[in-house]
Amino acid sequence: MSISATKKIAKQKAYFSGSVKNYRRSMLMHLTPIKHFYRLSSKYIKGEVLDVGSGGLITYDIAKAKSVLLTDISEDLIRSPQKIVNDRLEFVNDDRAKTKVANVFKLPFKKSSFDTVLVLSVLHHLSLPKVASNYRNLDNALKESYRVVKPKGYLLIWESCLSILISRIYKFFYEVTYSFFIKFNKPLPYFFFSSGRIKFFEGKRF
Ligand SMILES: C[S@@+](CC[C@H](N)C(=O)[O-])C[C@H]1O[C@@H](n2cnc3c(N)ncnc32)[C@H](O)[C@@H]1O
Repeated sequence: MSISATKKIAKQKAYFSGSVKNYRRSMLMHLTPIKHFYRLSSKYIKGEVLDVGSGGLITYDIAKAKSVLLTDISEDLIRSPQKIVNDRLEFVNDDRAKTKVANVFKLPFKKSSFDTVLVLSVLHHLSLPKVASNYRNLDNALKESYRVVKPKGYLLIWESCLSILISRIYKFFYEVTYSFFIKFNKPLPYFFFSSGRIKFFEGKRF
């Protein structure tokens, strides 16, 4: 990895490490989509489960999981994992749950290691100053996550998307807005619009 890519990852890491409590509390304000994902995903979450960029937070049903490995680029975020239970945050006390620091671009696991791989609200946070680099990052993160799923396993991705019109405006102003926010050490997320995302996945045989 180049020095500048390493520096950019360090900025993402610093940003998320500094916001651990706020981030988890903020998730309590999004309970409707979380409950929706919980219902939609529960039949796919089984066996050996890997959560990439987990933020140390379980927001899904692990009843059928043999093990759950919560990973993140930030060690601070996975130090004391929590889960959402009855609209509140609780610390995870479950022998099946383990944690590990891992970068989505270079996951420290062999090919085909997991039955279910979750990448939830992570892809738009792999942002760099240039729009084109964000698409490259998306591609690399997806390839790497896909690599560690077993052939009959599942790769579950949950993302915030913009409508086509808003995404065009966002894309137009992105690079200048990014350079402003990064001065305050806030890496601006890059949102991909839904129809573009679906075409991308079709192209990759997802
Ligand atoms: C918005 S949070 C989502 C957390 C969790 N997946 C959820 O849905 O609640 C984005 C997470 O991605 C992690 N992240 C950012 N860059 C990463 C990278 N290169 N590799 C792994 N995780 C990364 C952040 O540390 C943060 O925990």
